[in-house]
Amino acid sequence: MTNSIDLDTHWEQWRQRIDRHLENLIPKTHTSPALLHEAMHYASIGAGKRYRGALVYAAGHALAAREQDLDKPACAVELIHAFSLVHDDLPAMDDDDLRRGKPSCHKAFDEATAILAGDALQTLAFEVLSDPKWDQQPPTLRLEMVRTLASAAGSLGLAGGQVMDLNLDSSSATLETLAAMHQRKTGTLIEAAVHLGGLCATDDPEILARLENYAGPLGLAFQVIDDVLDGTADTGTLGKPAGADQERGQPTFLSVLGEQAARRYARDLKDQAISALDGTELDATLLVALAHFTVERSH
Ligand code: IPE
Ligand code: IPE
Ligand code: MG
Ligand code: MG
Ligand code: MG
Repeated sequence: MTNSIDLDTHWEQWRQRIDRHLENLIPKTHTSPALLHEAMHYASIGAGKRYRGALVYAAGHALAAREQDLDKPACAVELIHAFSLVHDDLPAMDDDDLRRGKPSCHKAFDEATAILAGDALQTLAFEVLSDPKWDQQPPTLRLEMVRTLASAAGSLGLAGGQVMDLNLDSSSATLETLAAMHQRKTGTLIEAAVHLGGLCATDDPEILARLENYAGPLGLAFQVIDDVLDGTADTGTLGKPAGADQERGQPTFLSVLGEQAARRYARDLKDQAISALDGTELDATLLVALAHFTVERSH
């Protein structure tokens, strides 16, 4: 498939760009407090699909943004994502010991260091976007990026969705409550990634709205497949403990719908996402390929 070959080539380059930039953005591991900086590097560099970073680049690419303008937004989104994973794995949350194929941050270091590394990864994301030395983009645009990312990570976004997740009662979980939770805990950051990429190229509200209509269903589809993979793939492939949701008695799209219907639901969402781009001037090739990846992925 031409699309996927195209996407793979770009994606590998985006991955390398993100790793290279993160190496420079996070203080060196020998900088005091060294343990904190080691934990920040450990949790954010060298692994992970970089799906959200890829969305920043692909959205920017669709509108002919320059790749070097997309590096900072892509890193900022990946920093927020890395922070969310460090905290998600903590004993007070999912209590998972494996992440990205290696011990979770609180296992490799200690709980206090993991909490603080998560905090520092999060604040670094905003430092990156608001850096006065990043003067290729106007301050108003960077402020809009900061606001977008802050609200995606906040109480009405990722943090709020994680609270809903922790409080979810398996006996009363419905598709609606699951979708609302997933949209917040996972969807908002994916929406922010696409929006940030778009903002690097345009302020046209109509185009940004199209991108929003693409990203909304896509974000939900991403977490539906995460739920499916948790119960159907193996730990080696996932790089995180398979079957963890079921072990915790966590209601998921897999437990509520079963695999076939959950996958069908994700495919419908993917179709919705793709059709939001129909008839636009933008070059949607990579965004479409990423939508297919979202539902076809094995990890
Ligand atoms: C896992 O995200 C957490 C969810 C929101 C589902 P990813 O599957 O993108 O994790 P990495 O970045 O590849 O490790
Ligand atoms: C996590 O959802 C969503 C986040 C905001 C981190 P999960 O708890 O399902 O993510 P995994 O499966 O541990 O990666
Ligand atoms: Mg969780
Ligand atoms: Mg988890
Ligand atoms: Mg999961």
